[in-house]
Amino acid sequence: MNVLVIGNGGREHALIWKIYQSEKVDKIYVAPGNDGMTDLAERIDIAAADIYTLADWAKEHKIDLTVVGPEKPLVKGIVNEFEKRGLKIFGPNKLAARVEGSKVFAKNILKKHRIPTAEFEVFTEPELAMEFLKEAEYPLVIKAEGLAFGKGVVIATNIGQAEEAITRIMEDKVFGDAGSRIVIENFLEGEEISVMVFTDGKNFVPLEFAQDHKAVFDGDEGPNTGGMGSYSPLPYIDEKSDKEIKNKILKPAIEAFNEEGLNYKGILYINMIMTEMGPEVLDFNARFGDPETQVILPRMENDIIDVFEKTIDERLSEITINWDSRAAVCVILTSAGYPLTFDTGKEIKGLDKINRIDNLLVFHAGTTKIGDKYYTAGGRVLGLTVLGESLDDAANQAYKYIEEIYFEDMHFRTDIGYSNRGSINY
Ligand code: GLY
Repeated sequence: MNVLVIGNGGREHALIWKIYQSEKVDKIYVAPGNDGMTDLAERIDIAAADIYTLADWAKEHKIDLTVVGPEKPLVKGIVNEFEKRGLKIFGPNKLAARVEGSKVFAKNILKKHRIPTAEFEVFTEPELAMEFLKEAEYPLVIKAEGLAFGKGVVIATNIGQAEEAITRIMEDKVFGDAGSRIVIENFLEGEEISVMVFTDGKNFVPLEFAQDHKAVFDGDEGPNTGGMGSYSPLPYIDEKSDKEIKNKILKPAIEAFNEEGLNYKGILYINMIMTEMGPEVLDFNARFGDPETQVILPRMENDIIDVFEKTIDERLSEITINWDSRAAVCVILTSAGYPLTFDTGKEIKGLDKINRIDNLLVFHAGTTKIGDKYYTAGGRVLGLTVLGESLDDAANQAYKYIEEIYFEDMHFRTDIGYSNRGSINY
């Protein structure tokens, strides 16, 4: 079978690595991909959001299955375009992907179906939003409605910060139309966790829990990034919390999507917070998490093609996922300055020293290859995932291997996955 993966980051590299292990797969293409993936997949020079060209290309090249990494093509309706051409594709359709594409759409579903989430108000007029701020309690959370590269959420600790956020989002339009409407919601306190489930619209199969670290500096300090690292499993989720998450969130969410006629098939990634009152939904994503995928897939023992096919064919009830009991930690190496301004084009040294280690996977995100040398080409450059006997063991090994890698301006957090560091309380 020929498989096309859409996207170009570390998440897509992890997907390709996993797909490559399937005996059903003959050839993998990636559009547009990055140079670090070319051992496993052939790059196709079509942008991830160019959904019509991708669909035509896939038809012409007799692609048997397409797997979509990022949200933008999903929200634009790539699944509908492929299905119109009779092509198999893994991911939610355009309507279903609105659960990520519109925070208002998602919050209204949560409210209507009484799924725990923060109280909220929606505003289309900045003046009314500003008025609301005067009586509000702080901190509160301001969210641009649409896709904003993970940067559209502001936690305001006082009215000044809240006003500034509203001005930037609604008046300066820093996220364009994505900020024409905003959601203002109560701030919820607790540990944030990432829960991904395969769903075929009726059945769902949860993946193991993971947590990512979005802030750029140790101890969850500094601005949010796309993700500086992740780990799985989560030792602080006991059997009771696990059941609570399934019964109060996952099952009702899948039932709600079904009742709303979304026909949601694919992966649903729920960003959740464990409050004193139990789990509550922060938001939905219509795709795999990045970098959660880089710790989840190395622990998943199933043939992923089988799971993709059963999801599409609405036969997910036949799937049981088996997990490697080892822990996984992924540490992301970035260009210093990311997520704001940063330089690229720095030579990456030392990759050859760590490319034959059994329990280490190096996932490329922002790299380019010239001759036989790799150079930095983005904010997030590489992710090192290690499988270990415990989270501390995996983290220790990951940081040991990082010592072998060097590029000018290399930055990484030093507290990913550790039980006794950073802000994580197990
Ligand atoms: N880990 C954050 C995201 O994938 O959006």
